Amino acid sequence: MKVVAGSGSPTLGVQLARELGADLVPVTFEKHLGGFPDREQYVRLQGELRDEDVVVVQSTHPDERIVELILLVDAVRESNPRRVMLVIPYFGYQRQDRKFEPGEAVSARALAKRLQVGVDSVVTVSVHAARILHYFDTPAKDVSGMPAIGRYLRGERLDLVLAPDQNARRFAKEVGEVLDVEWDSLEKKRIDSRTVEIAAKSLDIKGRQVAIVDDVISYGSTIAKTAEMLRDQGAKRILAACVHGVFAANALERLRSCDDVIATDTLPSPASRVSVAPEIAATLLQ
Ligand code: R5P
Repeated sequence: MKVVAGSGSPTLGVQLARELGADLVPVTFEKHLGGFPDREQYVRLQGELRDEDVVVVQSTHPDERIVELILLVDAVRESNPRRVMLVIPYFGYQRQDRKFEPGEAVSARALAKRLQVGVDSVVTVSVHAARILHYFDTPAKDVSGMPAIGRYLRGERLDLVLAPDQNARRFAKEVGEVLDVEWDSLEKKRIDSRTVEIAAKSLDIKGRQVAIVDDVISYGSTIAKTAEMLRDQGAKRILAACVHGVFAANALERLRSCDDVIATDTLPSPASRVSVAPEIAATLLQ
């Protein structure tokens, strides 16, 4: 088995190859030093893939990674592998998983249909909605990133695991049960992509340690608002944990009210402290 990692997933590529006992295939991303002047992308695989099972790992954020992924799969296919398994650790565009207003694109579906070209199976991580898997015509499985979050939080003395909204309720439950810690959830109303309102809820957290868990931290308003409420209610320590740390537009700055921010390695960031590679590897080896 061989692993080909895109430039969006370098550390996860290394971890995944280690977990799978596979070789990581070196990839060149520039034909000439400095790349093409028009910013077009380039990939060249530096390894033999004939008759191999090949895992291609690449998150589809930001947009350039999508083009790079298409090129990687094409290069892998050109090498006559036995099978191509695509791992999309963070599936960018997943939150537009349906048409919310007339005339909109179903962005997640549009991407799924195109990214599956040339691949035999797909693995995603904590995808936003189960329906996204059905947008692939090729076999697709989702792996939860919450066990990785649980592994990290095991080292903390938590009193409560909290979901900031109802979509994240299942994540708080999963992590709370793994840690054998009380869990709860809040109600969120999204005003726009940068603003949310969290409904007031009285929690028994004075002097206690709380972890807020979510699938994605993007602009950071969901976690920032939640942390503000926890601080006002006297929480002693507030941790924010997510699978996908997008941290758009300096989101980490907006999370100053948290004592710590933790993410997995589906997207590399300063908060990436724990790897989802063991869970991905287990699924690929099934
Ligand atoms: C939404 O349902 C997701 O689970 C996250 O809560 C959301 O994507 C977080 O976005 P932001 O960090 O921009 O508030």
